[in-house]
Amino acid sequence: MAAPGPGSAVLWASLAAALLAVCSAGSDAPRGVAVGFVFDPKAKCEPQCEHAGVCIRNNTCFCSRGYEGESCQYANCYPKCKNGGECLRPGKCRCPPGFGGRYCHKVTCDGGCWNGGECIAVNGVAKCICPSSWSGSKCQEAICPQGCRNGGICVAPGVCSCPEGWLGGACHTAVCAQPCLNGGKCISPDKCRCRPPFSGPRCEERKKSH
Ligand SMILES: *[C@@H]1O[C@H](CO)[C@@H](O)[C@H](O)[C@H]1NC(C)=O
Repeated sequence: MAAPGPGSAVLWASLAAALLAVCSAGSDAPRGVAVGFVFDPKAKCEPQCEHAGVCIRNNTCFCSRGYEGESCQYANCYPKCKNGGECLRPGKCRCPPGFGGRYCHKVTCDGGCWNGGECIAVNGVAKCICPSSWSGSKCQEAICPQGCRNGGICVAPGVCSCPEGWLGGACHTAVCAQPCLNGGKCISPDKCRCRPPFSGPRCEERKKSH
């Protein structure tokens, strides 16, 4: 604070009383006072000073810490609210969707990013950036580059869960509980394709030529 000049002791006492009132009202202490500051106890401020600001001269408010504007109507936030956040009250930002943290400086992906995905702001929108073997908005879907055939489901990167009767990395191999005989091939669960002249469920019969 600047040292008050001679003769202003009364004014300073008045200001101190005013500030004391402010402080005892429970709000933040006002910030430092500019050089040449004059406090007029009869001053009128229209509109009235808000947020425990003190009317020091006609239409001049001395704002409590954390507020600014002609009538101390605006809260200010330090550090400033980032990413389009709005300062609700000193130090309290309201963040737009996709951002969080005290100053809206953190990107937040709704529901989080799974499986090592990273939440990143892309053109102001929070997005999960997934590792190469995962996809989906939360990186919740595994990728099976080989594909899962015959009703198989990709349950982990490169891993298919196959329905009964199918095996193999892509569920592409049929299982015949009884092996196909005579060079027959298992083409779907328990179904053999036989080489002529064989036939039957397991290609076990030789067709009689008459
Ligand atoms: C402040 O305003 C009042 C009326 O609104 C006036 O009577 C007074 O003289 C003004 N004070 C100063 C210092 O201009």
